[in-house]
Amino acid sequence: MVDPSFQLIGQGAEARLYKGIYLGKLTLVKERFRKTYRHEDLDEQLNKERIKAEARTILKCKIAGIRTPAVYLVDMNRKCIFMEYMDDSVTVKDYIASLTNGEEREARLSDVAKQVGSAVGRMHAHNLIHGDLTTSNMLLATGDAEDRLVLIDFGLSVGQATAEDKAVDLYVLERALLSTHADMDSFFPCVLASYRKCNKDSAEVLRKLDEVRSRGRKRTMIG
Ligand SMILES: Nc1ncnc2c1ncn2[C@@H]1O[C@H](COP(=O)(O)OP(=O)(O)OP(=O)(O)O)[C@@H](O)[C@H]1O
Ligand SMILES: [Mg+2]
Repeated sequence: MVDPSFQLIGQGAEARLYKGIYLGKLTLVKERFRKTYRHEDLDEQLNKERIKAEARTILKCKIAGIRTPAVYLVDMNRKCIFMEYMDDSVTVKDYIASLTNGEEREARLSDVAKQVGSAVGRMHAHNLIHGDLTTSNMLLATGDAEDRLVLIDFGLSVGQATAEDKAVDLYVLERALLSTHADMDSFFPCVLASYRKCNKDSAEVLRKLDEVRSRGRKRTMIG
């Protein structure tokens, strides 16, 4: 149970999110709850793995200079992580949806795409994959600092990633963009352009991405 002074602000498929004050700081608590459709031991093990992956990768990203919320506390008994609440931020998903048509839209989209490409490129350069790259798992701080993109939701992340793992990570992002946003034809190519600049092994990853895409197409044809 999370301290009752914390306010429940959301619940996903795997976790409840609370907001409150911890040690004087605005804090987000992500609590993984029991899924009754899973065997109790397996559920416990999976939850622990995801908490470990999340805490570990947030720290590795920090070391690599990629913006993530600061981790304040990891509590394996209560299955939760206390982290910095990113105040004045919106998900990239909501940010894109809020852009109205006009000349500013293209420029803003290309700015966000570059930031996404550079964050993912740097993660991959450190052999880290996110595992769930969607526009809901990226926040944009609305202040006017230069690098405003913050990656979140690392429960499915993995270290020691291969080129194939990285290609799948990018493919997940490409599919997520297609299914969530309309009129974004130049967004993913723009992500890849800045990805290339941050990851010197990108040629192999992008070759694999073509393979992963064609496997994806075959799967769709078979149904
Ligand atoms: N540190 C944070 N600061 C502000 N808002 C956050 C923060 N972390 C998460 N959020 C908000 O809560 C939403 C859900 O968080 P998150 O993506 O971590 O959980 P989830 O998708 O339910 O988790 P999972 O996919 O691991 O089950 C985010 O899309 C974002 O809007
Ligand atoms: Mg999420």
